[in-house]
Amino acid sequence: MNAGMVAPVELFAPKRAGLRRAIIDMPKQKVGEVTRLGMGRKDIIPLWYGESDLTTPAFICEAAHEAMREGRTFYTHKRGLPELRQALADYMGELYRTHIDVERVSVTMSGMAAIMLALDAIVEAGDNTVNITPVWPNSVNAAEIRGVEPRRVPLRQENGVWRLDLNRLFNACDARTRAIVVNSPGNPTGWMIERDQQEAILDYCRQRGIWLIADEVYARLVYDRPVAPSFLEIADPEDPLIVVNSFSKSWAMTGWRIGWITAPAFMGEYLNTMIEYSTSAVPEFNQVGALAAVTKGEPFVAELRERCRIGRDAVVPRLKDIPRVTIDEPRAAFYAFFRVDGISDSLSFAKQLYFDTKVGLAPGAAFGPEGEGWLRLCFASDRKRLDAAMDVLERYLA
Ligand SMILES: Cc1ncc(COP(=O)(O)O)c(C=O)c1O
Repeated sequence: MNAGMVAPVELFAPKRAGLRRAIIDMPKQKVGEVTRLGMGRKDIIPLWYGESDLTTPAFICEAAHEAMREGRTFYTHKRGLPELRQALADYMGELYRTHIDVERVSVTMSGMAAIMLALDAIVEAGDNTVNITPVWPNSVNAAEIRGVEPRRVPLRQENGVWRLDLNRLFNACDARTRAIVVNSPGNPTGWMIERDQQEAILDYCRQRGIWLIADEVYARLVYDRPVAPSFLEIADPEDPLIVVNSFSKSWAMTGWRIGWITAPAFMGEYLNTMIEYSTSAVPEFNQVGALAAVTKGEPFVAELRERCRIGRDAVVPRLKDIPRVTIDEPRAAFYAFFRVDGISDSLSFAKQLYFDTKVGLAPGAAFGPEGEGWLRLCFASDRKRLDAAMDVLERYLA
């Protein structure tokens, strides 16, 4: 072999050689570490994932079947079917009593894909994003694997309510901050941002030329008003605002992998090309199902919200009565997020709980160091199932 040549066997000998550093170092998703112990099993009570136990409503499935039968099985519009984009613009316009131009709307392969597109469009390695925590880990970690430093600004609890300190949020921003990421209603806390803080953050982003990524996938799951405050209600069309949304939660479509982005209209052509180079569009029949959801799904959204309210009321008072448990009433989303005295390793605890009882919860550590010692239970489930889980938890946490 010539001097200077490296034998391929040497180059690829270590197991992970050839992978990007950021991928090798990527943190494991701790909810997934627990769910993979029993995913798909029927003899368990899985309250670990952020999804309802309801299957997707029949009218949505029927619309997708019909589209398949009609042969709508080809490549399609990158940013989504024009009629779906228009329906989403109309839906948001009606919900928020504003006008949303269809040029601002792009259909994406899930809320997660919407977050990836948003980040890919705006961050460079070495930048940072500022995240309000504890929070669903994926948007934080998606930033990290793009070479971005995800900064964390913890919410604090005040008289039983999660609160955001705006000074802390703004102090966490510097010249390398590309985006403030706001997930409200929040997973796992159920925290919901109010209008005055939305206005302050939007103003700050405008003045500083920072993007605001608003993850509003739980917008419809609110218990003290019809819909959670949205940045879309206060923003101008050209503001540096990217709103991420999803069909997963409100229409029980987690397995369909479809969501959407609402951004300034000028981003549309870039998103079009980015989608071309990644997922190349959402399958047309899924989009037809989504069109049925957004145009005919209001009764289902109301039914789901009621189911979640019943679930919340079945779970939260019983958790409150367990002496080791501290929990505040979630105002939105569909999670009971609670601290248990004496737990210092929530991942091991959640695994052991599953092995011992077949009740599946998410470990609080999955949502960041602030969540250590906490557990998350998704209450978007059948009442009987939740009662059975609570019978178990009352004994287990006694
Ligand atoms: C806060 C938040 N954002 C986005 C998503 C992504 O949803 P999906 O990728 O299923 O559309 C989730 C899913 O759990 C979430 O909790």
